[in-house]
Amino acid sequence: MSIDWPGLRTAAVAAAARAYAPYSGLRVGAAGQAADGRLVTGCNVENASYGMTLCAECGLVSALHATGPAAAGPQPRLVAVAVVAGDGAPLLPCGRCRQLLLEAGGPGLLVDTDGGPVELDALLPAAFTGTDLAQRRDPQREDPQPGESR
Ligand code: THU
Repeated sequence: MSIDWPGLRTAAVAAAARAYAPYSGLRVGAAGQAADGRLVTGCNVENASYGMTLCAECGLVSALHATGPAAAGPQPRLVAVAVVAGDGAPLLPCGRCRQLLLEAGGPGLLVDTDGGPVELDALLPAAFTGTDLAQRRDPQREDPQPGESR
């Protein structure tokens, strides 16, 4: 599928302008193209309790799901992402957000960089995935029942 990189970069810049970043002073905007063609965006939102800060990519992934098809349908997928700082130049996603993007777009997700788009796999090699979880979890594990404490 063709990626509208100019549209993604423009949308990321617009999202960065809406960021709430009074503590760090670093505005971040993220824009993604979904496999179904939707454009989704997010911006960072900080808090006086610093650890509660939401990265721009968190907002983007939330928008991907919140504005997508109903839960019964296929899970929405990201195919390309542009993340920029307030200066308009690409910003490489933090480690936590690379993991978040992996879940939403897989290792082939295209991420914009100063040198042009690269696959997420190059930014997060040897990642932990749901496959590791499924293969390595305790087979004797019993799921807790709703309301049951452990
Ligand atoms: N930030 C993002 O929004 N995305 C990233 O990938 C890196 C960091 C934000 C979080 C915080 O509001 C500010 O940048 C400084 O860390």
